[in-house]
Amino acid sequence: MKQDLSAPVITIDGPSGAGKGSITQLVAKKLGYHLLDSGALYRLTALAATKSGIALDNEEKVGELALSLDVKFVPGEYGEPVNVLLNGEDVTAQIRTETCGNNASKVAPLPKVRAALLQRQRDFQVFPGLVADGRDMGTVVFPGALVKVYMTASAEERAERRYKQLKAKGEDVKIATLLSEIQERDARDSGRAEAPLKPAEDALVLDTTGLGIEEVLVQVLTLVEKTNGTVI
Ligand code: C5P
Repeated sequence: MKQDLSAPVITIDGPSGAGKGSITQLVAKKLGYHLLDSGALYRLTALAATKSGIALDNEEKVGELALSLDVKFVPGEYGEPVNVLLNGEDVTAQIRTETCGNNASKVAPLPKVRAALLQRQRDFQVFPGLVADGRDMGTVVFPGALVKVYMTASAEERAERRYKQLKAKGEDVKIATLLSEIQERDARDSGRAEAPLKPAEDALVLDTTGLGIEEVLVQVLTLVEKTNGTVI
């Protein structure tokens, strides 16, 4: 599908583990909008590079890969993650690992990678609307978005949330390791020259430390309601 600039966009940006993914899913469901998990594209690029034995800092080669990625997003049941196919292979679980997330943040600063993924992301802007989750949705990819939210939370709380998720999946992880990985990823994502992680000037900054998902959802939906007059 091609981008339709008149379709409304809601952007949800912020650092890793701020709860953007869950809120994006809930808002998209509530409004019947499409969903873009832009981080998945960076994760897929990193995974494809690893599978082909390409170094993550080889901008030329990783950029070419990003341009030619054969990706399919298959929506699952509600509450389930979207299934992701790379060259026809189901890589849903492979792209969700901590290693893949950290590798994604190593290919993400490369300008050729970001340029390769730009139009692919913009093509998600179709009717009835889009909720887009990432780092630069409101600043670079959809600067004209109707509603922009920047969700954050303390690094400690984000590490703790991630710890609980991984424990529930039966993974053996240490909270101190997760915290230092989150801090490293924040530094890489915020410190890069291209599309650094930062709130758009017109974004609502929501600090979700100590807040439950329902409270955050109400705040986001209230903002949507105020901005476009839609009663939800
Ligand atoms: O959101 P997620 O954790 O899946 O993103 C993985 C990595 O991809 C981030 O740490 C970031 O480096 C990169 N990313 C990005 N721009 C986006 C989304 C993700 O640079 N819009």
